[in-house]
Amino acid sequence: MAASTGLSASRYFSTTFPLMKKIKKVPTKNFAEVYLKGTPAFIQRQLSDPYVRKRRLENYRCRSAFKLIEIDDKFGFLKPASIVLDLGASPGSWSQVARDRMENDNSFVIAVDLLHFPALDGVHFIKGDFTDNLVQQKIRGLVSEHSTSGNVDVVLCDAAPKASGIKAVDQDAIVRIVSSAISVAFKHLNNEGTMLFKLFSGNNSGTLVKTIQPYFRQIKSIKPDASRKDSSEYFVLCLGYKNR
Ligand SMILES: C[S@@+](CC[C@H](N)C(=O)[O-])C[C@H]1O[C@@H](n2cnc3c(N)ncnc32)[C@H](O)[C@@H]1O
Repeated sequence: MAASTGLSASRYFSTTFPLMKKIKKVPTKNFAEVYLKGTPAFIQRQLSDPYVRKRRLENYRCRSAFKLIEIDDKFGFLKPASIVLDLGASPGSWSQVARDRMENDNSFVIAVDLLHFPALDGVHFIKGDFTDNLVQQKIRGLVSEHSTSGNVDVVLCDAAPKASGIKAVDQDAIVRIVSSAISVAFKHLNNEGTMLFKLFSGNNSGTLVKTIQPYFRQIKSIKPDASRKDSSEYFVLCLGYKNR
C-alpha cells in the first residue's frame, strides 16, 4: 500500500494515520516495562527482587505487605485495639499486616474485595464492590457491631483498576476508585483517624489530594522502597481526620 502511493512506509503511516506517532509516545502501562508472567524477564525480575524472597520467608500473601510495613514503621498508625477497614484487600497481605500489628482482642479488620479472599483469622471479609450501596450497608453493619465508637480508626485502600494498558485511562480509573473510597472513609472514620490510599502519578491525583486537604490535619505523599521504581504508584497518608 505504501509503495503504491510512492511514499516510504514511515511517511505513509505518519501522513495516513497522524495519531500513530502520538500513540507511540504515550506510556502504555503504569510500569515502564511490562513483565509477562513466566517470561525470562519476569522470572529474572522475581529472582532479583529482595521483597519477593522476604515475602515467602515471612509468609505474606504478596510483596505489597512491605509497602504498608514501611509506611507504618515510620508513622505508627496501626495500633492495638483498632478497627481497620481494608478496601481492595485481596489477596490479603495488608490485612495480614494490620491484624498482626494490632494484635489484641478488641481489634478487628474488615476486608472488602471483588475477588476471592482466602480466610484469615481476625479478618472479616465482604466479597463485592465497595462503591456499591449494598456492600456499603454490610460495612456499616459490621462497623456498628464491632466498634464501640461506631466508627473505624484506619481506612486502607490499595484498590487498583483492571489495567487498560493506557496510563491516562488507568490514572482516571484509580482517581474514581479512590474518590469512592474517600467517601466511604468519610462516613466511617473516627475523629483523628487515618486513611492510606494508593494513586498513580498524574494531574488528577494532585487535584484529588488538594481537595481532601481541609479534612485532615496532615497529608503526606510517600513512595516506599518496596514500591517498584518503574511503577507510577505512590501512597497518600492522611493523618488526623477532622470528624466534625
Ligand atoms: C493491588 S490489589 C490489593 C493488594 C492488597 N493490598 C494486598 O496486600 O494483598 C488491588 C485489589 O483491588 C481490588 N478492587 C479494585 N476495585 C475494587 C472495588 N471497586 N471494590 C472492591 N475491590 C476492588 C481488586 O480486585 C484487587 O484485588
